[in-house]
Amino acid sequence: MIAIDGPSASGKGTVAQAVAQALGWHYLDSGALYRLVALAALRARVDWTDARRLAGVASALDARFTSGDAWLGAERVTDAIRTEACSAAASQVAGVPEVRAALLARQRSFRQPPGLAAEGRDMGSVVFPDAGLKVFLTATVEARAERRYKQLIEKGIPANIQTLLRDLRERDARDAERPVAPLRQLPDAHLLDTTAMSVDEAVAKVLAWQGERASSR
Ligand code: DC
Repeated sequence: MIAIDGPSASGKGTVAQAVAQALGWHYLDSGALYRLVALAALRARVDWTDARRLAGVASALDARFTSGDAWLGAERVTDAIRTEACSAAASQVAGVPEVRAALLARQRSFRQPPGLAAEGRDMGSVVFPDAGLKVFLTATVEARAERRYKQLIEKGIPANIQTLLRDLRERDARDAERPVAPLRQLPDAHLLDTTAMSVDEAVAKVLAWQGERASSR
């Protein structure tokens, strides 16, 4: 079990996915689950202050992942969960303890042989505290904003670096300062600062740590 936690736009999704693929393991994007809860709640017009109903949406979530796609029932929602509105809503529902509790068992069910690489904010602290390898993957806020900017421009989506910087700083503060499952580097997590690293270098580093662990057992 490899748990990779880190801030928004740090590249942990890309790295975790590549690590899972290299090892032939399963992959969990836990943020996608919070995004799916947010989308389902938006559609059902659930009141954001109604923690019990939000938790009900999380428990009853008819969600599925296929290679590269997310599904809500029979609908492919891969793009719908990545909109700005859904990102903002996901960040809200992620702050509700009842929603987090309702998603715990579902996240743990992804842990199947031969192994799981999971990424999010609380993989190593709450969901998989006994993970064999924990990584805190980060980069400076400027480097993350720059990467997001390039991604958006490549997709033909207009972007502004100052707005991206401001949004990332806001999300960092919200993720790190919330009372429930805040984003933290754990004492037993390896720090991977990818500011000056390529994706391939970051993946190689995680695989090397995993290799060291496997050979020391
Ligand atoms: O990683 P992401 O940006 O797709 O995550 C979406 C939201 O869910 C974000 O606001 C952080 C939150 N999240 C969380 O609280 N815990 C996780 N394990 C994963 C994501």
